[in-house]
Amino acid sequence: MEFNMKTKMVLERDFVIGSIDERIYGSFIEHLGRAVYKGIYEPSHPAADAEGFRQDVRELVKNLNIPVIRYPGGNFVSGYRWEDGTGPREKRPKKLDLAWRTLETNEIGVNEFASWCKSVNAELMMAVNLGTRGIEEACALLEYCNHPEGSYYSDLRIKDGVKKPHNIKTWCLGNEMDGPWQIGHKTAGEYGRLAVETARAMRLVDPDIELVSCGSSFPEMPTFPDWEAETLTHTYDDVDFISLHQYYGNRNNDSADYLAQSLGMDSFIRTVVSTCDFVKAKKRSKKTLNLSFDEWNIWFHSNEADNTIMKNTPWGIAPALLEDVYNFEDALAAGCLLITLLRHADRVKMACLAQLVNVIAPIMTLPGGDAWKQTIYYPFMHASLYGRGKALSPVIRSDKYDSVNFTDVPYLESTAVWNEETNEITLFAVNRSLETPLELDCFIQGFGTLNSIDSIVLQNDDLKAVNGPGKQTVVPQKGAYPNIDGEHITCLLPKASWNVLRFLCK
Ligand code: AHR
Repeated sequence: MEFNMKTKMVLERDFVIGSIDERIYGSFIEHLGRAVYKGIYEPSHPAADAEGFRQDVRELVKNLNIPVIRYPGGNFVSGYRWEDGTGPREKRPKKLDLAWRTLETNEIGVNEFASWCKSVNAELMMAVNLGTRGIEEACALLEYCNHPEGSYYSDLRIKDGVKKPHNIKTWCLGNEMDGPWQIGHKTAGEYGRLAVETARAMRLVDPDIELVSCGSSFPEMPTFPDWEAETLTHTYDDVDFISLHQYYGNRNNDSADYLAQSLGMDSFIRTVVSTCDFVKAKKRSKKTLNLSFDEWNIWFHSNEADNTIMKNTPWGIAPALLEDVYNFEDALAAGCLLITLLRHADRVKMACLAQLVNVIAPIMTLPGGDAWKQTIYYPFMHASLYGRGKALSPVIRSDKYDSVNFTDVPYLESTAVWNEETNEITLFAVNRSLETPLELDCFIQGFGTLNSIDSIVLQNDDLKAVNGPGKQTVVPQKGAYPNIDGEHITCLLPKASWNVLRFLCK
């Protein structure tokens, strides 16, 4: 006889965490591996458009409804001269990209990337180089991108064929400047001073921009969270966000422990929120700083292969780096991480799934061949499509387990979103139990009559099942509609599953 575990959940119209900034469904494309070249851009591909961008890839990107894409790095940006990617293509220099030991052809630069972003309906979020460069170059790039006309750099953009300014709103002040691997790595004091002076000068060029101060590269950094406290002492008044980066992975092949890693994301976010608020208190400031979790994903499958490629392969163009092939349990882990971001919708106002194509990505391509959806594509798509509106604060009672690195891990990871415009409630839920279905017993209070409009489930008996070219093994299916009795719904969440339950309220 199969034993089902029981969970209780209460959702209430007035229990709102905050309005969801749609930019939490952002992504990231770096000049790294086959993300740009042989990824979004492959002029010789049969599906390429007149600009050389693959239209099949574009369609897969568009289906994700991504509002913002961070560019051009990542570690790459800390050695990048943005001017190299402007002007006539045949004159652009081929440079050594020291971050990824790659030859950068500069065929794609800010203008081409901005044009591609437009075609996938996304805003561009730009990072400036605070590794090898500084205030002057950041201001020049901003002038090139956002100033209408009549100055040296804006006229250069016009000469390069782009009449209208890009009006890029969000700018990252460097990338992972706390990391010793970063070109131009800095101490917190050095970065804080440079970042605040860059921020002030950039706002003189364009006062309407938003700025992101660099946080720690991951919470295990020995300098975390002192880095946040010290750098924000300099930048707090002059920036709008602090960044967070973290990658997860089933490194010890322990699935129960792996699925609990979203608890680590939760505690990382809480610590950064506390640190921001500590600086706020120290400064007697009225301003509350928000968080940009602008690099998150699963990244571990390719680590060994990358070490070998980076050590042994000669400098080349677009080598296959960071090409994680994601399996079914990675999709479950990604689902837990998405739910965690939604639970912090009051303070996490931007987030970027890192990255988008070929490099630790939901979308993969073969040169000259197919483009396909990896397993993690699906939870990200569901959250992006249906997770818009107000994040609700559910009260959940679930059985818990202890794993090697985490205690009190609830079997049910869940949250819900209330979309006032469409009158819909969407409940996202992961059953972390690898053996047992969960009986969900949920009260959805104060929304009127509930009608099921969709039930989606991602489930596979093989946690290691993967998708590949021409092979979609892990795909969402129609799930059973829950039983509805007034405000009370019940349903069964299969063992190890990602679930999306949608209701129309009348
Ligand atoms: O996304 C891959 C790399 O991870 C980025 O270049 C860097 O910012 C981070 O360490």
